[in-house]
Amino acid sequence: MPTTLCLDPDDAGLDRAAALLSGGGLVAFPTETVYGLGARGDDARAVALIFAAKGRPRFNPLILHVPDLAAAARVAVFDADARRLAAAFWPGPLTLVLPRRADAGVADLACAGLATVAVRVPAHPVARALLARVGVPVAAPSANPSGRISPTTAAHVLEGLSGHIDAVLDAGPCAVGVESTIVALTGGPAVLLRPGGLPAEAVAQVLGAPLAQAATGATPAAPGMLASHYAPDARLRLAPDGPAPDEVWLGFGPDPATAAQAAHRLNLSPGGDLTQAAAGLFALLRRADALAGPGGRIAVRPVPDDGLGRAINDRLVRAAAPR
Ligand code: TXA
Ligand code: MG
Repeated sequence: MPTTLCLDPDDAGLDRAAALLSGGGLVAFPTETVYGLGARGDDARAVALIFAAKGRPRFNPLILHVPDLAAAARVAVFDADARRLAAAFWPGPLTLVLPRRADAGVADLACAGLATVAVRVPAHPVARALLARVGVPVAAPSANPSGRISPTTAAHVLEGLSGHIDAVLDAGPCAVGVESTIVALTGGPAVLLRPGGLPAEAVAQVLGAPLAQAATGATPAAPGMLASHYAPDARLRLAPDGPAPDEVWLGFGPDPATAAQAAHRLNLSPGGDLTQAAAGLFALLRRADALAGPGGRIAVRPVPDDGLGRAINDRLVRAAAPR
């Protein structure tokens, strides 16, 4: 693989990125949630390159990114509930897991051979411009080595994947900062597979019914919901009461008195704002990791467990999981 190009998100950069994707290459691009690592979803060879670049297990399927509902409906079967959610929240940070159409034209490998498919219409203008140019569904997981912290800037992408991918489109930091909310509608009640950038409460409100919870732990409902994920190099623990003196503190809201003795202190949102905390989460985890150094320790304050807070706590629990 040649050196990874860093492209501006102007017409020339988008044309270049689309040409690389169309030719079967790997291009990282911004979405409103995190940067994705794209390959054309109808090309098994291109999709296989994603798994190789990330070191991702092949049982873990990918999300197909499309420009609009019409394109999504060529890949997946939409029932009335799925149409309602798409109308309410697309483009935006919602992924739907739906029955895969027999004539979907996406590589089996992208769906890990499942009868279902994950589809999403991102809101980021650069992602939308790229998808419109490519004209086929683009398979894209988060653009990080498997199991590590997701990227919210082009620099994060290059830290993990430089030399392993063809290009990254650099459009600055992602606004939402945590991945899309994943909802499965495959017959039976809607299931929340992953809390994310769209609060689950908003989904439930449109459906008029609460979401069923996916099982967690060793046998996850979404194959990618492994216990250990988003892992920094340092050891991380959830610390509602504050840090020990040798820990890097990552707070939320006003710091407890014990934070004064921490080795370093960072804060997701001193004013206690969940939107701000989500937007900065992955960048601050990376900063805390760098400050802690090899073998170091990070203490994080959990956030209130509603709205975006659920997605943030989910990422923190996985970052803290034994590995
Ligand atoms: O915000 C996002 O969703 C970002 C941006 C780039 O769009 N993408 C992302 O992709 O987070 P990834 O691969 O890191 O996470 C996709 C998740 C995995 O947990 C995977 O197991 C699940 O979606 N998934 C994909 N297809 C599925 C399917 N058919 N059934 C159940 N889970 C599925
Ligand atoms: Mg990921």
